[in-house]
Amino acid sequence: MLGLGSMGAGMCLLLAEHGYQLFGFDPNQGSVKKLLHDSKAAGLSVEVQSSYEQLCKQVKDGHGPGLFILSTPHGPAVDKLLKEMRPHLDRGDIIVDCGNEHWESTERRQQELSKDGIHLIGCGVSGGYQSARSGPSFSPGGEAEVLDKLMPFFKGIAAKDRQGRPCVRPVGPGSSGHYVKMVHNGIEQGMLSVLSEGWFILVHGLGLSYPAVADVFASWNRDGPLHDCFLIGIAADGLQARNPEGGGFEVDVVRDKVVQDVEDSEGTGNWACEEAMALHMPAATIVTAHMFRYASAYASDRKENREAASGVAALKPGRLRVQSRDDFVALLQRATYFSFLCCFVQGMDLLRAKDRDRGWGLDYTDIMQLWRGGCIIQADGVVDLLDDMYKRHERHRTDDVLADSEVAKELSSQYSAAKQVVLEAVRADLYVPAVSQSLEYYKYMTSTALPTQFMEAQLDYFGEHMFDTWDEPPGEPRTGSHHYEWKAARGKVDE
Ligand code: 6PG
Repeated sequence: MLGLGSMGAGMCLLLAEHGYQLFGFDPNQGSVKKLLHDSKAAGLSVEVQSSYEQLCKQVKDGHGPGLFILSTPHGPAVDKLLKEMRPHLDRGDIIVDCGNEHWESTERRQQELSKDGIHLIGCGVSGGYQSARSGPSFSPGGEAEVLDKLMPFFKGIAAKDRQGRPCVRPVGPGSSGHYVKMVHNGIEQGMLSVLSEGWFILVHGLGLSYPAVADVFASWNRDGPLHDCFLIGIAADGLQARNPEGGGFEVDVVRDKVVQDVEDSEGTGNWACEEAMALHMPAATIVTAHMFRYASAYASDRKENREAASGVAALKPGRLRVQSRDDFVALLQRATYFSFLCCFVQGMDLLRAKDRDRGWGLDYTDIMQLWRGGCIIQADGVVDLLDDMYKRHERHRTDDVLADSEVAKELSSQYSAAKQVVLEAVRADLYVPAVSQSLEYYKYMTSTALPTQFMEAQLDYFGEHMFDTWDEPPGEPRTGSHHYEWKAARGKVDE
């Protein structure tokens, strides 16, 4: 295991518990000491090495090719590590990169290493440090034969779903495993935003105490379409945590700034948005959630400007004017489900667009299985719905999730609840960026006549942009073959 931070160390202990002979490596002595301490306390055997040479020698000593698992920050750190390790690697060695790596870097490294017969698997690992210790969800991608060889290993240590099935599948070739993890994280950020908006509505809009909000989340997590949802489960738990010093609630200590290091603007959330742009996919909830996160850091870092703007705007989130709190909580539950479903629809359409582009040939019921346990976006009600949908489609794929009749029915039946929540929240100046964007997304994605008709006309007026007409079959990519001299034609038609 190369990289003994919280994820790497957790996986070390997990592997040792499963009887693997394990050697750890990390230049950070603090991490090494902590792992040795934790493994001793757990009665598990983990050895550490202090050079790549020793590590590679010991891993392979008499055992044939070695398996090297990376759990390190992405980007140049991995290139440096591979460069230094390379002289000690041999044909047949397998490297599994368990970091959140950009798919292009993974493909570049796969190509470079394959020249020497070294295999690189790009593997998403989800569930945070606690799942790393108890069994995460894995999304490994790379050469099929290598994935087959590794499957028993992954299956043994992966999280298990409610039926005891492991949350791992060979995802597909190349960088598809890391890409799937990036999509997972895009969906994750959408869900996190939706949930934070709901939390704020419950607390500030309805005036519920934290324990009461925790009860609401716990009941959502128990029954109804949001059952067995990891993020809702931890929401119910976390809201009960007390601050050891002040005696209040720990969540009140937390500033509203969601940290995203600008230097490290290459996180998975960013990549998911960049990919949506690159592939022209309208992942509105996912992108908006990311913008909300940016806004929180931007505003927080400019505290004085924020206060000045706030003074002028004089907008204070107020109480909702609703007749029954319980009825509104029920509406919010449905709006949350609606918005979560939109996050998944957008993520899956993005993934499918990439899959088509790269020719990966993914099986989407397999992807659903990855997300049934151990991962952050586990939401069994949503995943069951999509899984059933994929099973109905040829080769378990569809290019357009919204077009599926069952998904369409489900979203349509929740639309009015989401609309009411947005209307009331807007009236009370509460924040609903991701929920309202889900509503808009659904509305425009199911429309057959959008205001963009006028946008296209304007573009043609000033830029000779060219346009399609209603009586032509829709073309892809853009066919726009008509231009009109709008100005010259002004007033020519009496009406
Ligand atoms: C997981 C998480 C995990 C984490 C990311 C996102 O599946 O366990 O997605 O990978 O949430 O590190 O963090 P940033 O968005 O801050 O990059």
